[in-house]
Amino acid sequence: MNFEIYNPTSRSSGFYLRVSIVYVILNLMKTDENILIDAARKASENAYAPYSKIKVGAAILSSSGKIYTGCNIENASYGLTVCAERVAVGCAVSQGEKDFIAIAIVNSTEKIITPCGACLQVLYEFSKNLQIILVSASGEIYRTNLESLLPKPFNFPNK
Ligand code: THU
Repeated sequence: MNFEIYNPTSRSSGFYLRVSIVYVILNLMKTDENILIDAARKASENAYAPYSKIKVGAAILSSSGKIYTGCNIENASYGLTVCAERVAVGCAVSQGEKDFIAIAIVNSTEKIITPCGACLQVLYEFSKNLQIILVSASGEIYRTNLESLLPKPFNFPNK
């Protein structure tokens, strides 16, 4: 009887080259995500949140490759509070950016929070296919996208 014995050392050098390339690509992608998350975490440290005590930081990656950040800014007149996401978008747009690839949102609680409806609509204004990375204080990550969180955005009927 002929048995084929699995022998990892019998693989061709081409196989190892392909595995190495995939490994490098995956690591590069991970590094990009980590850079965005780190920027969002850093921005969350500047949050002004004396009322809710929830510090939020957002970092948005533009298609030009630049990262813009924002944090939540609360107000004694609660309704004037601005979320971290909208501050990040404002920061980016004020620098001439209008197209985005991904946003990372880090908050200071142990739970992952999803952006509010208002922020989702503002993000939709600029990027219909935005990747969204949500991160808790302990580093738990939830990856999603704008279409999943806002399946039926408002659009001008005549546009
Ligand atoms: N907040 C954000 O900054 N982003 C979100 O995605 C949800 C909520 C802020 C607003 C407020 O300062 C605090 O979190 C509690 O609502």
